[in-house]
Amino acid sequence: MSQQAPKQAPKQAPKQAPKLALIVAASENNVIGINDDLPWRLSADLKRFKALTMGHAIIMGRKTFDSIGRLLPGRQTVIITRNRDFKFEGAAVVHSIEDALAACHDQETAFLTGGAEIYRLGLPRVDEIYLTRVHTEIDGDTLLPEIDWDQFELVTTEAFQADEKNEYDFTLSRYARR
Ligand SMILES: NC(=O)c1ccc[n+]([C@@H]2O[C@H](COP(=O)([O-])OP(=O)(O)OC[C@H]3O[C@@H](n4cnc5c(N)ncnc54)[C@H](OP(=O)(O)O)[C@@H]3O)[C@@H](O)[C@H]2O)c1
Repeated sequence: MSQQAPKQAPKQAPKQAPKLALIVAASENNVIGINDDLPWRLSADLKRFKALTMGHAIIMGRKTFDSIGRLLPGRQTVIITRNRDFKFEGAAVVHSIEDALAACHDQETAFLTGGAEIYRLGLPRVDEIYLTRVHTEIDGDTLLPEIDWDQFELVTTEAFQADEKNEYDFTLSRYARR
């Protein structure tokens, strides 16, 4: 009697972490926020944020989510909180950066959208940085955590002047981990 080969379990696609892209707007003195809000009105920056993140996952801290106050359409929202009771319909709620990345395992790219606490958590895993450098020194209560820029190389950069929709001059740059 011929022996049948044991049935193998179907192979599952490996759960791969998505590429992680940090996206932030920071002043010359690294301010990113004040009173749970952005310290400026920069229409071009909001448009860039929307264009880059559309169709992708966005990972944010609970405070940043509160400041936005709603789900951003067309994006998978992942909220990081220590609060085990926190829920928001339509968002994934997680309690660590590892679980945030796991929640995006089916995505090619996930954007780390802040704020400071969540940038700090995610920085060691970040593959790319989209920086809007806002050319002003401004008061604020939330700072971009220190980034070792030697670990990143500048890929593209473009400077823009202030106008009626953008309060300050600003430069849009993309960096990739070396
Ligand atoms: N300029 C920009 O590009 C930009 C981008 C994003 C945000 N912002 C600004 O940044 C400010 C908010 O930043 P933020 O640093 O205060 O807050 P945040 O990073 O948005 O959220 C902080 C919250 O994340 C959760 N958290 C932090 N570490 C955690 C950990 N290890 N495990 C589980 N959960 C953790 C906690 O939520 P719980 O308290 O619920 O436990 C904590 O209160 C606002 O002013 C906002 O407008 C600016």
